[in-house]
Amino acid sequence: MAVSPSELLDIARTIALEAGELIARRRNEGVTIADTKSSSIDVVTFADRECEEFVKARLLELRPEDGFYGEEGGDSTGTSGLTWIVDPIDGTVNYLYGIPQFAVSIAVVEGSPDPGTWTQLAGVVFNPLKGELFSASLGGGAYLTSEGVTEKLGVNQESLLAHSLVATGFAYSSELRAIQAETLTRILPAVRDIRRAGAASLDLCDVAMGRLDAYYERDTKPWDYAAGSLVLREAGGIVGGLAGAPEGRDMLLAANTHLFPQIEKLLLS
Ligand code: IPD
Ligand code: CA
Ligand code: CA
Repeated sequence: MAVSPSELLDIARTIALEAGELIARRRNEGVTIADTKSSSIDVVTFADRECEEFVKARLLELRPEDGFYGEEGGDSTGTSGLTWIVDPIDGTVNYLYGIPQFAVSIAVVEGSPDPGTWTQLAGVVFNPLKGELFSASLGGGAYLTSEGVTEKLGVNQESLLAHSLVATGFAYSSELRAIQAETLTRILPAVRDIRRAGAASLDLCDVAMGRLDAYYERDTKPWDYAAGSLVLREAGGIVGGLAGAPEGRDMLLAANTHLFPQIEKLLLS
């Protein structure tokens, strides 16, 4: 590979900061729903589309030979073997309501956008309203930059499930939500408490920095976790599916090495 993960990280960071500034500005001007997607509650705003187009155009300038895979469409295959995976606004419902828990998520992987085969090279998750930028590159560690200060991240070492703060999320489909609610009846009695903050990328980064002990969710897509799961891995956490499967639509579980098997067991039961 001619380009190093840290050079790719610099590009991801630059574009995420610009894109974050764009969506924060649009949020101040007022948010308009452009369309709905998988269901009437799965909305896309004009800002989601504008932000993805902006990120795509910037990548085309800086990395014209790479592929692109974004939530709002317009995917392209490159010639370099690298693919950028982008969620222009992760946490769109929070964005709509003005809850400061949304982020631009940008990752670059070697290979296709498939967690079973990709090698994650660099990832950035930027929450523009909180001014928090999470970043990681392969083998380079995970970091949080906030108010000009950068700190290295490491997951909590909590090993007692009963003392663990666990985040989850829910799909936009009511059928799946009914199954997710049933799963929750096994998890909730076993842990300290549950959080549902509304942005998968930030949930992963919050586990990486110790604001949460674990996170699990079904039906997430590569753009939700491509960047955040690298941040978590580089912070010493484990991300995967169940029974040795890679993370994916069936399940994504993120935790430290002690909690991962305990939560996996409950999810499998
Ligand atoms: C959603 C958020 C949410 C998660 C959903 C995702 P979006 O992404 O990450 O927390 O529960 O599964 O689809 O639609 O806001 O980009
Ligand atoms: Ca998302
Ligand atoms: Ca999104």
